[in-house]
Order: sequence, then structure tokens, then C-alpha cells
Amino acid sequence: MEEEKDDKKVMGHEYDGIQELDNDLPGWWITLFWITIIFGVIYLAYFHIISPESTQDAEFQAEMKKAALEQEARIAAAGGGLKIDFPQEVLDRAEKGKQTFATFCVACHGNLGQGTQCPNLTDNHFLHGFDYDKIAGIITNGSPKNPAMMAWKTSLTAEQIQNVAAYVFTLRGKNIPGKPAEGTEYKSEEIANAAAPKFDATASSAPAKPMTPEEKAKSSYATCAACHGANGEGNPATKAPALAGQDAIYLARQIKNLKHGKRVSTEPLAAGMLPMLALLKDEDIDGLVKHIQTLPAPKIVHTEKGDATKGQPLYAICATCHGFKGEGNPVLKGPKLTSLPDWYIVSQLKAFKEGKRGADAAKEPEGALMAPMAKMLMDEQAMKDVAEYIKGLGK
Ligand code: HEC
Ligand code: HEC
Ligand code: HEC
Repeated sequence: MEEEKDDKKVMGHEYDGIQELDNDLPGWWITLFWITIIFGVIYLAYFHIISPESTQDAEFQAEMKKAALEQEARIAAAGGGLKIDFPQEVLDRAEKGKQTFATFCVACHGNLGQGTQCPNLTDNHFLHGFDYDKIAGIITNGSPKNPAMMAWKTSLTAEQIQNVAAYVFTLRGKNIPGKPAEGTEYKSEEIANAAAPKFDATASSAPAKPMTPEEKAKSSYATCAACHGANGEGNPATKAPALAGQDAIYLARQIKNLKHGKRVSTEPLAAGMLPMLALLKDEDIDGLVKHIQTLPAPKIVHTEKGDATKGQPLYAICATCHGFKGEGNPVLKGPKLTSLPDWYIVSQLKAFKEGKRGADAAKEPEGALMAPMAKMLMDEQAMKDVAEYIKGLGK
């Protein structure tokens, strides 16, 4: 019986005595097959057409946004902040100014104005006063005491300055925990009763009077000085290297590379450099470099200790690209080394050796010339020894 049934199903293919039969597919298989197809259609329609906001990615984004809002509310509540009823115009301008603040000010003053290395703008303490005019003045002309707070009148339009000053005006007294208080303390009532800002509705949306190239370079450098030192001498605390005394062609190339993401860095504070570099136009870089070269010979702070006698033979190979006197070799693109602090030389050799700098020749063509050289140095001690020898070359 069984045999006869199979006979009907024989498909006529036979290999090594094994025949192919045309059996029906099992019911459970067909059912699953249809279920997956129906499921697929429903899934596609639901997640991609009817309700695109319920995809995993969209849900994640929504939750992140909610968490950020909650954090903001929590921080504001923790400060028991001062509540002031501002005129609608102040609120409208503050809303616009918030964007400018997010682009240019957060690196130093924090995402909520709570301050990072620079003053907390949300407390009851002020270095330069809490009136709108004082705030707008310090943003326009910069701080007379600290060049890190530069004059923004050349980078922002008069209109943008009014808006960002209005935003800062609304932050006062919110007391968001951040940078400890600095300057004179004022009572909450005093702050709340500050005169309402008078805006200039005719304020131009064009930047204020153009500066001479020298003034422009000087004011650009003020934004670098916070980390690289007033005279470009570098600062071990910020990990920012000396810039003064470096070869002009190399400096210009490296500033461009940093600006366009082609000089990789793993130092956390180097991220704070990006908004400053974003303000810098490519055509102004040469002027800035010229200014850096006029800075007085810096007193470099060295912090490492190595053995120069052990460093000397190690330096032999470096001399090809960096010069026998560490003076740099423009043809082979090697920068001057004698103007650099030893801690920076060691940190960069480590970064090259560990593949953090110069690993991708397409992105960092010059760094890729250097990376294999750092790999020849056995360990950190060898790096300190060669740095010690380079220090001697500069004397
Ligand atoms: C490179 C870092 C840096 C950036 C960027 C920066 N500031 Fe400042 N800001 C400072 C420092 C430092 C001070 C303190 C100045 C002093 O000591 O006199 C300051 C002070 C101020 C003050 C006065 C605070 C007080 O206590 O009186 C205001 C207002 C201010 N900044 C607003 C802004 C705004 C608005 C922006 C963006 C357009 C901005 N800052 C960008 C570093 C910075
Ligand atoms: C918030 C701090 C900070 C500010 C502001 C800053 N820098 Fe830097 N900069 C750094 C740090 C940190 C490094 C070191 C990066 C590393 O070790 O990879 C660095 C590295 C550099 C280098 C690389 C040197 C080299 O030989 O590769 C150049 C060039 C430079 N900065 C230029 C500037 C200029 C120009 C400005 C102003 C427009 C500026 N920086 C503002 C922190 C800063
Ligand atoms: C084949 C040529 C070459 C040799 C050999 C060479 N370097 Fe370099 N080095 C470079 C180039 C090119 C750069 C610039 C990389 C860049 O633009 O990011 C550089 C960058 C550096 C830097 C970072 C400078 C800065 O400002 O960030 C240090 C430090 C350094 N080299 C030390 C050495 C030492 C020490 C040796 C010997 C062990 C050596 N180099 C051998 C080509 C070379």
C-alpha cells in the first residue's frame, strides 16, 4: 500500500538508488510560514508606516530627551533657584540667545551656565555686575582682567550679543550647582529688581567694526591663552603644549588639521579647543600664527626626568626628520622639538606608540610618518630619556 502511494509521488529523479518524492510539506511548517509572512507585513506597517515613533531607536532618543529634561529640572530644583517674571521680550531674546550660548559659551561656562573652569553664571556672585548693561558690556568687550573671556563683538553680531546677554540675564540667581562662587555676592532681591534690559531694536545683524589683522590675531589668541598660556608657553595643568617658538608652517598646518578633525587628540581638554577653532576662519590662521611668533620667548615648565646619555643614541633616528639640533625639518614635515615641554613630548610619543595619533594615514598623513618611529622606543623610560636629550639640544 505504502509503496504504491510513494510511486505516484516519484518525480523521476534518481541518484545512487535514492528517489526524490513529491511529499506534501507538513502542516506545522506551512502554518509557521504563513505566520511569519503575516507578522512581517504587520511589523512593517506598524513600525515603519503607522507608528514610526515606536521603533527602538526613536524610543531611545525620546528617553534620552526625557532624561535630559528631568536632569535639568532636578538641577534647577536643587538650586532652589530664584524665580523672576521677565518681560516677554527678554524671554523671546533669551530663547534665541540660548543657541548662541550652546555654540560658543558652554565650553567654558557649562551647558546650563553652571561654569566649568570659568565662572558660574547662575549664582548670586558676580565679578563684573549683574545688570543687563554690565553683562552685555563684558560679553561685547571681554574681561579687562582675564583674556580667556574675550571680546565677542568681532565674532558675534550686535543682535546676537543682545540675545545671549538676555539669556545670561535670565540665568542669574538660579543657583545651579557648579563652579564655586567668585566675586561679589548680591542679595536675591537686588538681582530680581535689576532694571529691565533696554534692547536696541535697530541693532545690526552684522558684526561690529572690523578689526585690523593684528587686532584680530590678538583677540583670537586670547581664546587660546586660557589653556596654552598668555605667552604661548604651554601649561602642564591643561596638557596644552607650548605654541611659541614653533615653526610657522607646522603651526599653521596643525591648527588647520585640528580645526578640520585631522589631528587626532585624546586629551579631554583638547575638545574645549574646538569652539575656539570654529571661530577662526582658515584665512585668518596665518595672521594668528604670526602673532604667536611675536610672543616673548616663553619660560617652558618641564616636569619629567630622564637620562640624556641614554637618550642620545635613541635620538639618532629622530634627527633625520627633526634635525640634529631638534630644529625641525620642513621638507620631511618634522616639527621643531626644542620649543616643546618634556611632558608633552612624552605624552605625544605615547599617543603615537599606542596608535592614538597617526594610526590612519588617510586621516593623518604626517602623523603616520611619525607613528612607526615612536613604536621603536621600548618603553616610557626610553621616551623620557630621549625627551631629556632634546631638552639639552635647546640650551
Ligand atoms: C575660553 C573660555 C570662555 C568662553 C568661551 C566664554 N567665557 Fe565668559 N568668562 C570666562 C572667564 C574666565 C570669565 C571671568 C573673567 C574675569 O575673571 O574677569 C568670564 C566671565 C564672563 C561673564 C561675567 C561673569 C561675572 O561674574 O561677572 C559673563 C557674563 C560671561 N563670561 C559670558 C559669556 C558668554 C555669553 C560667552 C559666550 C558668548 C562666554 N562668556 C564665553 C571664560 C569664557
Ligand atoms: C580648553 C583648552 C584649549 C584651548 C582653549 C585651546 N587649546 Fe590648543 N590644545 C589643547 C590641548 C589639551 C592640546 C594637546 C592635545 C594633545 O595632547 O593631543 C592642544 C593642542 C594644540 C595644538 C597641537 C600642537 C601640535 O604640535 O600638534 C595646536 C596647534 C593648538 N592646540 C592650537 C590652539 C589654538 C590656535 C587655540 C586658540 C584658537 C587653542 N589651541 C585653544 C587645549 C586647548
Ligand atoms: C620619518 C620622519 C620622522 C622621524 C624619523 C621621527 N619623526 Fe617625529 N614627527 C614626524 C612628523 C612628520 C611629525 C608631525 C606629525 C603631525 O603632523 O601630526 C612628528 C611629530 C613628532 C612629535 C609631536 C610634535 C607635536 O608638536 O605634537 C614628537 C614629540 C616627535 N615627533 C618626536 C620624535 C622622536 C623622539 C623621534 C625619534 C624617536 C621622531 N620623532 C622621529 C616625523 C618623524
